[in-house]
Amino acid sequence: MLSPTMFPFLLLLVLFPFFTSISQPFRVAASDSIYDNFASCLTKNGIPSGQISNILYSPTNTSFNSVLQAHVRNLRFNTSSTRKPSIIVAPLEIPHVQAAVLCTKGAGLELKIRSGGHDYEGISYVSDVPFIILDMFNLSSITVDIPSESAWVQAGATVGELYYRIWEKSNAYGFPAGLCPTLGVGGHISGGGYGAMLRRFGLSVDNVLDAQIVDVKGQVLDRKAMGEDLFWAIRGGGGASFGVVLAYKLKLVQVPEIVTVFNVQRTEAENATDILVQWQNVADKIDNGLFIRVLVQPSTSESQKIIRLTFIALYLGDSDSLMSVMNAGFPALGLQKSDCKEGSWIQSMLFWSNFDIGAKPELLLNRTSDVNFLKRKSDYVQTPIPKDALTSIFNKMVQLGKPGLVFNPYGGRMSEIPANETPFPHRAGIIYKIQYSVNWDDASPNITNQYLEQARELYSFTTPYVSSNPRQAFLNYRDLDIGTTDNGKNSYSEGEVYGRKYFKDNFDRLVKVKTVVDPENFFKNEQSIPTLPARSFR
Ligand SMILES: Cc1cc2nc3c(=O)[nH]c(=O)nc-3n(C[C@H](O)[C@H](O)[C@H](O)COP(=O)(O)OP(=O)(O)OC[C@H]3O[C@@H](n4cnc5c(N)ncnc54)[C@H](O)[C@@H]3O)c2cc1C
Ligand SMILES: *[C@@H]1O[C@H](CO)[C@@H](O)[C@H](O)[C@H]1NC(C)=O
Ligand SMILES: *[C@@H]1O[C@H](CO)[C@@H](O)[C@H](O)[C@H]1NC(C)=O
Ligand SMILES: *[C@@H]1O[C@H](CO)[C@@H](O)[C@H](O)[C@H]1NC(C)=O
Ligand SMILES: *[C@@H]1O[C@H](CO)[C@@H](O)[C@H](O)[C@H]1NC(C)=O
Ligand SMILES: *[C@@H]1O[C@H](CO)[C@@H](O)[C@H](O)[C@H]1NC(C)=O
Ligand SMILES: *[C@@H]1O[C@H](CO)[C@@H](O)[C@H](O)[C@H]1NC(C)=O
Repeated sequence: MLSPTMFPFLLLLVLFPFFTSISQPFRVAASDSIYDNFASCLTKNGIPSGQISNILYSPTNTSFNSVLQAHVRNLRFNTSSTRKPSIIVAPLEIPHVQAAVLCTKGAGLELKIRSGGHDYEGISYVSDVPFIILDMFNLSSITVDIPSESAWVQAGATVGELYYRIWEKSNAYGFPAGLCPTLGVGGHISGGGYGAMLRRFGLSVDNVLDAQIVDVKGQVLDRKAMGEDLFWAIRGGGGASFGVVLAYKLKLVQVPEIVTVFNVQRTEAENATDILVQWQNVADKIDNGLFIRVLVQPSTSESQKIIRLTFIALYLGDSDSLMSVMNAGFPALGLQKSDCKEGSWIQSMLFWSNFDIGAKPELLLNRTSDVNFLKRKSDYVQTPIPKDALTSIFNKMVQLGKPGLVFNPYGGRMSEIPANETPFPHRAGIIYKIQYSVNWDDASPNITNQYLEQARELYSFTTPYVSSNPRQAFLNYRDLDIGTTDNGKNSYSEGEVYGRKYFKDNFDRLVKVKTVVDPENFFKNEQSIPTLPARSFR
């Protein structure tokens, strides 16, 4: 029997964990002791104290805020009410990562791993529970080896640094990864990674040869030591469910000396919708050296509520050859030779970053970028959207006023790679991916809510025209609207909701790998891979 006098005591025991996580004063008061305990744990794990003072930041350190904010890429998570980490560890050497994993586990805190910080929902540096950030930005070395057509790149390097280091050695090579130079290699590649060469070469993960990871036991493993299952999982399944990615070995791809880009706009007065209808029929089938992205944007002008389409393209060849591909395959756009700009591949990467094609490649090394408030969502299209449906989507967008869409064509190499080759399942049969995109610069919560709601309303409106059962989504376009798991509980059934959307049938293999490599689910976040439910595991 439970004695009534024990109730208050039991209640306190039950509530205690909540007090520690909710009450701010307690956390701030506790953070110095968290710092001291963490520092002494690092010492026990062989890190010299002289090094610890260079890598460990408590909230009272003068540079805590600047380190934290340096890799925030979405201002929604840069507010005073955003939960802050108890400490930040910014390793300078691999043993720092190993010790940080062991000490975070020992402290019973959650570990958030951050490389470039571009996660659209900020889950690499925000949490609802007390947490530590493992900030990888300083592990950023890049070794390019042209004779073997490969490069080792550490997780904290940016893709802009990668492109630059390749170009320094040879302008005959490139790598198929993202279009924003500040993307971090650790999150970008482990989440799939695509860029304007995906129709010729596939995703970043289709061009990974080896990797280095720190597992839950603090061990450093390469491809051979981790085995093919884990090596498979960290090529599109998201690194953060499995361990800390230290580096990837990449297979470089050959790029022509001259490539061509263009950016042309069309409105309805220029038959934009008809052009888009033809685009849907050809964009995934045309020469696989040609990638034509379409931006669909409502005009911001009050007097002229119209939709504007912008066709932005990379062609792996010169403009004469592009013109013949376009005239044969996509005449509706009416591309003129004067619309085309020729340059080297590295110059095309400057073009995608909105720099002039003649700008200095050094601009790709700039880690400071202009940051907005952001929301993104994603969809996959398997059947061309009929013209009248496109018109009604455009009308909806004009009515909402803010969200835009980005159509990214697939096909080519993307269709040749089997859907289970990597965790990324969106291969043959996908015509294009849609990104829902809202950017704004007003911090007021009402504005934020209004724009989040607009994105959701547009997403709801397009339901009949996109993939279903599951409604597929791209992991790198992180969207917590499609489901989250309660970190503490790691519910398999909750994980399966977003897991099937991101990975389709590959979810099952990811769960098996997860259950083997991290059975106690230390590496977790709002949308991590769950372990198998205990019953089926035994
Ligand atoms: C401006 C902008 C442009 C973008 N353009 C593209 C694009 O062209 N192509 C594309 O594919 N995507 C694009 N994205 C999406 C981008 O690829 C993802 O946000 C990606 O996860 C970013 O990686 P990161 O290291 O910068 O992010 P982070 O926020 O640091 O990490 C993202 C996720 O990966 C985990 N993670 C990070 N580092 C590691 C590590 N070392 N080991 C294990 N887990 C780790 C984090 O914990 C988090 O879950 C863009 C995003 C933005 C904001
Ligand atoms: C953080 O503050 C502690 C205590 O003042 C100091 O020893 C340490 O060097 C600081 N860390 C960094 C990275 O500046
Ligand atoms: C984030 O917030 C801080 C404090 O308000 C501010 O100083 C900083 O400029 C902000 N970061 C960006 C990128 O705007
Ligand atoms: C990494 O740390 C070193 C030494 O502290 C510093 O010189 C360098 O600028 C840092 N690199 C980055 C990318 O912050
Ligand atoms: C738009 O289509 C109409 C009807 O097919 C055609 O007459 C007109 O020339 C087209 N306009 C442009 C700018 O192509
Ligand atoms: C880096 O980019 C930021 C943001 O666009 C800009 O303000 C800054 O001048 C750039 N720095 C260099 C060296 O180009
Ligand atoms: C924000 O929204 C709330 C609830 O809709 C409303 O009561 C409040 O007046 C709004 N605030 C501003 C500044 O618009």
